[in-house]
Amino acid sequence: MLNWDDPLAAAKPGASRLAGILPTSESPDDRLDTLPSPRADYRTRFQSHDTRAHARPGQGLVANLNLMESAGAAPVVAPDPFAAAANQQAELSIEDPLIPGSHQEPDQGAAGGATGLESLELGAGRVRVDDKKIINCRADLNQLVPFKYDWAWQKYLDACANHWMPQEINMNADIALWRDPNGLTDDERTIVKRNLGFFSTADSLVANNLVLAVYRHISNPECRQYLLRQAFEEALHTHAYQYVVESLGLDEGEIFNMYREVPSVARKAEWALPYTQHLADPHFNTGTRENDQTLLRELVAFYVIFEGIFFYVGFVQVLSMGRRNKMTGTAEQFQYILRDESMHMNFGIDVINQIKIENPHLWTPEFREELVTMIRDAVAMESRYAHDTMPRGVLGLNAPMFEEYLQFIANRRCAQIGLPEQYPGASNPFPWMSEVLDLKKEKNFFETRVTEYQTGGALNWD
Ligand SMILES: [Fe+2]
Ligand SMILES: [Fe+2]
Repeated sequence: MLNWDDPLAAAKPGASRLAGILPTSESPDDRLDTLPSPRADYRTRFQSHDTRAHARPGQGLVANLNLMESAGAAPVVAPDPFAAAANQQAELSIEDPLIPGSHQEPDQGAAGGATGLESLELGAGRVRVDDKKIINCRADLNQLVPFKYDWAWQKYLDACANHWMPQEINMNADIALWRDPNGLTDDERTIVKRNLGFFSTADSLVANNLVLAVYRHISNPECRQYLLRQAFEEALHTHAYQYVVESLGLDEGEIFNMYREVPSVARKAEWALPYTQHLADPHFNTGTRENDQTLLRELVAFYVIFEGIFFYVGFVQVLSMGRRNKMTGTAEQFQYILRDESMHMNFGIDVINQIKIENPHLWTPEFREELVTMIRDAVAMESRYAHDTMPRGVLGLNAPMFEEYLQFIANRRCAQIGLPEQYPGASNPFPWMSEVLDLKKEKNFFETRVTEYQTGGALNWD
């Protein structure tokens, strides 16, 4: 097992336990560079140049910094591409050459985009890149290519390269510790159970929102390809919680019904549910300013707040136990879930920013103010969850540290979608909780092309 108290040591190049099993003199990737083949071009566009072996489930806990190297691409779509003109343009519906897509009439009454299930039109023209849009697109959704949003396809590939299964992780140490009456304090047991209670239903809620609400309204096939991958990952996460519950012999009714019984758990699900009900309504269609803003609002609610803020107290708490060599199997499950969730959030942020680019009339000052209020409310709610789950402080953690942490990550989330930071000076009390953004050079964050990919664990057929 790597030394969890020294994550930097573990993150040094070549520190991976599997480093050395790969060829060192000439990697297959190096050979590919000499071949002017279509496959080489594909690799250059869409695959990693990194041939180091990455963390795999079943190897034990690793430093987050090391794990997150394989968390895929950070958001690459500019969060505020029309910042200078935003105030003037917010109410415009006329075409402005400075703002792509601003020629759209905001209230045109169109009934959304294609679904992919329309009747075939024989002899219809082929799909052109310029026909594609994230929402309200009428181009055939059954044709994946030509790609328009390379970042979406890249995130799909990155996610597939990180495939894992809960059963790969050894739970024996956790079972022994849980059964030992002196193994854990009551407060530590509360942390484990509360977080299993929250996450076990939260991930199902996210999956149902994706499949039953979001998917139909995202009218782009490469984005849908990622959504399908994400939906499967949410199933894996629910599977992981079930696997932990079964391994520890917990009362499954107590855990899975906790979101209806424990107020601090119920509050978060209760907050999120209204933000899926519009999109899930079979009579709801995008295509008007009001409905397109509803879609954006609900994407922010789930990707930026639910998966990007509400998950993070739980992640810190469970991973902190692992850092102290307690519940290491459960903590390892949560590490791989954290890596997946980081990718989900980054994908959602790219989708949100791309919708803004194509529909700048949606991003009004009033709408931005509303989103800021949602994020501030979420930070307050998640701070209460931190208090409720650790009223006395445990594992060297206390609730005020979480308040600071939540403010720190809320600032980042705001910046990522082009909103002003809300908590000046907030710092990160858990620097070991790296996320993919920590690993990317600042100057690359907001470029429109991905320049650094990490796709660990991919098979190489060359
Ligand atoms: Fe999940
Ligand atoms: Fe997720």
